Amino acid sequence: MSRKIHHEKAGTRGLMTCFVHGSGGSQGVWVRQMAGLADVARVVALDLPGHGESDGDGVGTIDQAADAVRQVLDELGVARAVVGGHSMGGAIALAFALANPDRLAGLVLVGTGARLRVLPKILETLERDYAEGVRLVVELAVAGDASPGLKDTLVRETLLNPRPAMLGDLRACDAFDVMARLGEIRTPTLVVCGEGDRLTPTKYARYLRDRIPGARLVIVPGAGHYVQLEKPDETTAAIREFLLQGGVTG
Ligand code: COA
Repeated sequence: MSRKIHHEKAGTRGLMTCFVHGSGGSQGVWVRQMAGLADVARVVALDLPGHGESDGDGVGTIDQAADAVRQVLDELGVARAVVGGHSMGGAIALAFALANPDRLAGLVLVGTGARLRVLPKILETLERDYAEGVRLVVELAVAGDASPGLKDTLVRETLLNPRPAMLGDLRACDAFDVMARLGEIRTPTLVVCGEGDRLTPTKYARYLRDRIPGARLVIVPGAGHYVQLEKPDETTAAIREFLLQGGVTG
């Protein structure tokens, strides 16, 4: 029997769009996009292995995590879907695209990159003092002008992950590199990045836009790494336009 991969669903018609969260996260990071896209797509957001309500100890490698996306699509009986991901979830979406081109209708890459090396200071701090490490990650991840409660919420929710799961996520990111393979991707692609993103800077987003054939890029002013939570309406609008007018077809 396969492991349980928990997922939440919204919407009853349109193309299936499957969202994947980033390091130390859960499906909840997509709550605003789930609500804002349910009238144009069947939206699913999953908890990766070892996160939220899913089984397992952690994601393993990025390629192994992409199997969780395929499992959810199989369980839902979906042949092709748009796959979207934030940060590590974007890496997983890219890995899914490279391994399963026939299952893909489009890609949505939010606050992510084709290579995700992690600052050694982040890994060292998480090892030494988990709570301090999580506060450091959130401090770097959220732009200065975000709502005051957002950082506290993110710290609280990230701390729900046991330290090994969070460290496993970041080590999987650190080992991820598909910079040389982006030209193989042949699917409509939207890249979204907060203008003030310090963890996956706009340079990474421009690289994705320049190397994935036909990809379009939306840079969101006033947002950092958690662009879909910091500027939810702008992020949802960009994805909505992509789903409706981006050449995405089932
Ligand atoms: N897209 C485009 N360019 C990228 C890239 C990506 N995804 N990842 C790395 N590069 C570029 C870098 O900008 C650098 O270019 P340069 O030589 O012109 O300056 C080059 O590739 C090598 O970069 P990198 O492999 O990252 O090594 P580094 O020793 O320069 O830096 C870090 C290592 C960790 C300091 C750096 O990757 C960083 O600041 N990362 C962001 C912070 C972080 O921890 N993010 C978490 C991601 S989950």
